[in-house]
Amino acid sequence: MKGYENMEKKKALIVFGTRPEALKMCPLVCEMKKSDKLETIVCVTEQHREMLHQVLEIFDVKPDYNLHIMQPGQTLFDVTTRILTGMKEVIEEVKPDVILVHGDTSTAFTAGLAGFYLQVPVAHVEAGLRTEKIYSPFPEEFNRQGIGLVASYHFAPTEKARQNLENEGKIADRIWVTGNTGIDALRYTVRDDFRHEVLDWAGDSRLIVLTAHRRENLGDSMRQMFRAIRRVAESHPDVKIVYPVHLNPAVRAVANEVLAGCDAIRLIEPLAAVEFHNLMAKSYLIMTDSGGIQEEAPSLGKPVLVMRDTTERPEGVAAGTLRLVGTEEETIFKACCELLDDPEAYRKMSVAANPYGDGYSSARIVEILENELAKDPKMRLRP
Ligand code: UD1
Ligand code: UDP
Repeated sequence: MKGYENMEKKKALIVFGTRPEALKMCPLVCEMKKSDKLETIVCVTEQHREMLHQVLEIFDVKPDYNLHIMQPGQTLFDVTTRILTGMKEVIEEVKPDVILVHGDTSTAFTAGLAGFYLQVPVAHVEAGLRTEKIYSPFPEEFNRQGIGLVASYHFAPTEKARQNLENEGKIADRIWVTGNTGIDALRYTVRDDFRHEVLDWAGDSRLIVLTAHRRENLGDSMRQMFRAIRRVAESHPDVKIVYPVHLNPAVRAVANEVLAGCDAIRLIEPLAAVEFHNLMAKSYLIMTDSGGIQEEAPSLGKPVLVMRDTTERPEGVAAGTLRLVGTEEETIFKACCELLDDPEAYRKMSVAANPYGDGYSSARIVEILENELAKDPKMRLRP
């Protein structure tokens, strides 16, 4: 029957496992499920557990497969080997036309590698981010470059990301600038009438929202970051700091060691995205080593001090909202004091900008996938 192949729904296996991937893939899952040309199968690796399920609940996404790989204090070896073995079985059972992975986590890299081993086309969402420093962030820069090597479809959030991919020799007609699906998620979460007991506690004080978790910062760098933040709290009586602490035990140990016992600092459990996004929207400024927060904050018009030496998100720096402050105590302390004490410096960084998309990236990706998967299957694998 001529043309029959194109009339069948194409199977799209979408794989994610950590909080940030879930936040950026769930809007896409919701959009894919509306398509009459795609059959969407969701596989979670559960690289994260509680922090993943917090996100699934918001979007009411129910996974078809769960690899249940999370272990307390897991190493990169644990994560990678458990996912690779688990993904082989899922891919062999589902026989997808395409596997979608996101960003730069070990879940994304390993699911992409499994797709490559079984010669199933891989689509990379949030493709083309680069620091070009393989150890920074670690191991994410390697992961994203590795996925780029095997991917057939590259969904780049920005023009800069597209350029990075073209500079590496990726074929131009396999790259699409779609915006970042993380901005789509903000449409589901941010609301004007938000109330929260942290806001009541902060009262008229200026609220700083803090997050920190990067593997390369664990240990001394994180201790220095936290010391700087404690000094900020102790030197500014009108400032309150809230830190939803990542569930990584290595992060929790340093947070407790340096930040506990200060009345102006609250260490709380990770927040569901609705609460976290709205707290950011109501904050005075944000201090973080996170990736996703660097994309969300410009949309919210909040200054962000990025406690890292490199960023793969230069668009936010160019837009004026992000400033890289490294991981040394004195530099972080001075940069934060400047924002708190100099209204002009604060005003310059509080510009609302939207370098990462308009909130409709998922719809664009679905349309591209529908068109591409309707083409001859021989055209799908990376040329
Ligand atoms: C991983 C990603 C990183 C991403 C971060 C988002 C890799 C290599 N790293 O960080 O890119 O920025 O997630 O947060 O993929 N834990 C829980 N419950 C949870 C989540 C974590 O208990 O819901 C604890 C566990 O003890 C776990 C530990 O945190 O072993 C670390 O989790 P893991 O995913 O390995 O963290 P990272 O690799 O640091
Ligand atoms: N986030 C959240 N609750 C929190 C802290 C962060 O929902 O308590 C969200 C945040 O808005 C962003 C994402 O988690 O969308 C970032 O995740 P994380 O910093 O863990 O990972 P990264 O982006 O660095 O990979």
